[in-house]
Amino acid sequence: MTSPSFMRPLLALAMGHTIVALDNGLGLTPAMGYNTWNDFRCSPEMNAKAVMALADKMDELGLVKLGYRYLNLDDCWQLEELSDTGELQPDPVAFPEGMKPVVDYVHSRGLLLGLYSCRGWKTCAFRGASSGHEAIHARQFAQWGVDYLKHDSCWASGERSAAFAQYAAMRDALNATGRPILYSLCGWSSWYSPEGAKLGNSWRISADCDEWANVYVAVRTNELLAAYAGPGAFNDPDMLLGSSPNAPAHLTPMQVQSQFSLWAVMAAPLLIGSRLLSMPASDLATYTNDEVIAVSQDALGQQGRVVWSNCPPYVPRDNWWNSPWSMPFDVCCMWTRALATAAAVLFTMAATCRRFAPRCGAYVLLPLGLFCALYIAVLWSFRPRTHECQQVWARPLADGAQAVCFVNFAQAPARVACDANCLGAMGFSKGGTVRVRDLVRRVDVPVTTLGDDALAVDLEGDGDSALWRVLERR
Ligand SMILES: *[C@@H]1O[C@H](CO)[C@@H](O)[C@H](O)[C@H]1NC(C)=O
Repeated sequence: MTSPSFMRPLLALAMGHTIVALDNGLGLTPAMGYNTWNDFRCSPEMNAKAVMALADKMDELGLVKLGYRYLNLDDCWQLEELSDTGELQPDPVAFPEGMKPVVDYVHSRGLLLGLYSCRGWKTCAFRGASSGHEAIHARQFAQWGVDYLKHDSCWASGERSAAFAQYAAMRDALNATGRPILYSLCGWSSWYSPEGAKLGNSWRISADCDEWANVYVAVRTNELLAAYAGPGAFNDPDMLLGSSPNAPAHLTPMQVQSQFSLWAVMAAPLLIGSRLLSMPASDLATYTNDEVIAVSQDALGQQGRVVWSNCPPYVPRDNWWNSPWSMPFDVCCMWTRALATAAAVLFTMAATCRRFAPRCGAYVLLPLGLFCALYIAVLWSFRPRTHECQQVWARPLADGAQAVCFVNFAQAPARVACDANCLGAMGFSKGGTVRVRDLVRRVDVPVTTLGDDALAVDLEGDGDSALWRVLERR
């Protein structure tokens, strides 16, 4: 859906927005909360009652007092069509009394409420979206008392200046309401980062995380983007995946921990995207570790950087609107199955239709079938994969310590060590005296001097990690 290049100046002119820095006072540390997408998708079970139950559960699990304050409804809270006057319409079956009472209830439990819309002409799930109706929708959000907006990018131009202009239109509309509303862009591409801070409080940089390979892609993409993040403006590598085997997307418990540690070091939003009402104990233990949360919420708001890596160079790829790496894995499977069925049906028809019309198969149906088959082959060959490699990430903290994350993406176990260059990249000197704490196990590590191999860990294969806090005593 990319516009031809000769149209770019025209589009920029038509959109006519000047970009000013966002200054809404929100999101000075990465947002924390929960999002319904990987829990409910578009199930009719995502309704007013469920939202209230989710708010109760977030409180009961102790998540609210740890800082998980945003309860975010993703796509499918609204109808397919806008009203005659261009307003978003809450699904009257799921939300019979509208959004206001739901928002009020969520607020009464000490939480904040997030809603979802899209800069395109429909949302990703074909519901009513905000293109051209930004002001009306922003006013609705403000009237309902909404605190957060996730703004998606489906069914919209993939051309950069057009995308920036549409995101700016909603930014300005939210600002004009006078209500501080955290603005979270969802354009799944790394090219948002250089403009991100002017447009929103956070911006998605890569495809949906719905399997470990996509977590790897998000991490590798984010390693190039640290310079663009800071207080009030963060790169967003997508939500946290839990390990519930019956959720639409999930990781192993070990990978859940690694994603959480990496997200803390990358100053990424911590939005739980998994079964909340039946969360596995191991996920809850991971997400409620206040020593890891403290890294995420560190006041410096600096994104971590890679200080050691043996991974191959990585070049982020643009997402097409209908590419497998830009859609949730289960949606991609559905899409692939549909295409495979279409191809099979077309081949069968091609084999039989000549009885009615000579050569119909050869000219029409066979090429169509071949196109479907080719498309599936392309989808398959471009699916994300991890590399057999390891990395060390480090994030500077306000008290002068470094949060250091060692991660093993390879299938086999590996020893990951921070060498002299790695120590130097963190500003540590060899021979220095340190205090080291393992934040995941919550124990002190018996390392006192930075000698050879002082900072090294043995990790399992397939996504194991360690997260240490290293403070040099001077
Ligand atoms: C609107 O933008 C101005 C200028 O950047 C800023 O000072 C103000 O805080 C913003 N208001 C809201 C509600 O975001």
